[in-house]
Amino acid sequence: MPGPQMLDTKRILLVITGGIAAYKCLELIRRLKERGAAVRVVMTKAAQQFVTPLSVGALSGDRVYSDLFDLTAEHDIGHIQLSRDADLVVVAPATADIIAKMAAGLADDLATNVLLATNKPVLIAPAMNPMMWAHPATTRNVGWLKGTGVTIVGPNVGAMAERGEFGPGRMVEPMELLAAIEAHFAATDAPKPLAGKHIVITSGPTHEPIDPVRYIANRSSGKQGHAIAAAAVAAGARVTLISGPVTIPDPTGATVVHIETARQMLEAVEAALPADIAIFAAAVADWRVEGQSTQKIKKGASGTPGLQLVENPDILATIGKHATARPQVVVGFAAETENLTANAEAKLLKKGADLIVANDVSPETGIMGGDRNTVRIISRNGVEDWPEGSKEDVARRLIERVGALLGGAEPIG
Ligand code: CTP
Repeated sequence: MPGPQMLDTKRILLVITGGIAAYKCLELIRRLKERGAAVRVVMTKAAQQFVTPLSVGALSGDRVYSDLFDLTAEHDIGHIQLSRDADLVVVAPATADIIAKMAAGLADDLATNVLLATNKPVLIAPAMNPMMWAHPATTRNVGWLKGTGVTIVGPNVGAMAERGEFGPGRMVEPMELLAAIEAHFAATDAPKPLAGKHIVITSGPTHEPIDPVRYIANRSSGKQGHAIAAAAVAAGARVTLISGPVTIPDPTGATVVHIETARQMLEAVEAALPADIAIFAAAVADWRVEGQSTQKIKKGASGTPGLQLVENPDILATIGKHATARPQVVVGFAAETENLTANAEAKLLKKGADLIVANDVSPETGIMGGDRNTVRIISRNGVEDWPEGSKEDVARRLIERVGALLGGAEPIG
């Protein structure tokens, strides 16, 4: 457990927005100060309807910032500096409105300007009516923010301020939010096992054009590969993520190269070398269309077109057997619908990988496109089943494992 002084050198910028739960911030500020943190507060206009800047300022021991145009005074700092002079930005309560504005990149007051301009990690504690929380727009906005690296804390399930309303939407309690802030710093202050290492990761599907408007693709969402990239960033690595067309956001802190076809993916991987580690999580199309049409193929006299397919280069095998620039650790995936272990073992050997992450992608598993994953790890040392977890869990564990291989804590092959 972190000690009471663990936030000693930390600077927290707390953005309070207009929700009834704003009162919980008073307690939060007290607890943060108790732990030695420096707390600076931005309040929206609406927040001031719920708690006064006077009480907030008395607890934070600093003036409260609320007006964008106040900051032009000579003795004041600008909103850009305000957004940077912190180790962590916390938005609490985070209303549906501020969440939507953050996701859309709006900046129409001091709080939104600060949130758009910051280059620091952001943690938000949503608070709203359960119907608003369940609305597809909020789901989309929260999902988007999550994908860009924003940490979402809560909400809790419980009674609302409105009579008779009950459900998910209550802001977490101050001590829960404090615990999340402490956990954030415990993670960022943790040792960085991959510091100084370069890792190249492929993710998502590839699209292989048939003609200018049609292509061959697969159901890969990129969630697993992107989660691995995020875990590698968290472990301190320099990350190059080569991604096929996906609808999820780029992970924060990685250099992302967007490509469409398998051949472009190989080219991008080769251009990213040298690397210490390479992880090939992409679902690369095995074939492309030979002699793709430069014009849209029309229905008509010539009947149904027959597509002639040719094999794409195997990126994992090319890099796994690279004569001059093979990374020290090479990891592949094996997407199988039958004979999981045997097929994965064959891929390990054939493609020159050190580790294969095998998963059963039969439709009933829901893994392809889903949020969870169950994997079997295959190396020359044997076979190991990992418990079912989120794709983030699998990513963290894989990065830990790869770090151990790289550091020699575990023999390769
Ligand atoms: N892979 C690759 N380039 C390809 C095909 C696959 O880099 N052209 C990589 C994938 O990223 C994955 C591994 O090889 O890490 C295995 O992919 P998978 O689709 O399971 O196997 P395939 O080699 O395509 O074999 P098959 O489709 O016959 O099972």
